[in-house]
Amino acid sequence: MTKILFVCLGNICRSPMAEFVFKDMVKKRGIEKEFYIESAGTSSEEVGNPVHYGTRKKLQQVGISVDGKYARKITKEDYNKFDYIIGMEEHNISSILRIVGNDIEGKVSRLLDYSNNPRDIADPWYTHNFDITYEDIVEGCEFLLRKLGY
Ligand code: 4NP
Repeated sequence: MTKILFVCLGNICRSPMAEFVFKDMVKKRGIEKEFYIESAGTSSEEVGNPVHYGTRKKLQQVGISVDGKYARKITKEDYNKFDYIIGMEEHNISSILRIVGNDIEGKVSRLLDYSNNPRDIADPWYTHNFDITYEDIVEGCEFLLRKLGY
């Protein structure tokens, strides 16, 4: 089983979107039993809060529910628990490393580093555009699945 933790700053916009998009992709391919997928934030700011309305609404449009997800913060223990710890942007990566310590097993990466056009995921907190973030995340998740051999 491959264990993946998607990470952003607050765990209310981007990383829950990646979590539920990736869960939907593996379910549609009938390979959900091969994966354990979660998301977390690097900040305590939104801990316990539900998924942001923009992410919730965008995923609703494509038939994906985020019910039951509440923001949590990444912990040092997550480094041992997960095989892949995937940030949304460069800044997340340094925040993740501050929390988990040195990435001695090479588990930490940025989602769109798996794509043909490595870049940060567009941050809807600033763009207010959840459509572009969704497209970025789908692109990243598709390339990630391919890297994992699916
Ligand atoms: P997320 O979005 O990191 O994609 O969940 C944000 C959530 C909260 C803040 C910024 C981005 N904030 O500044 O509180």
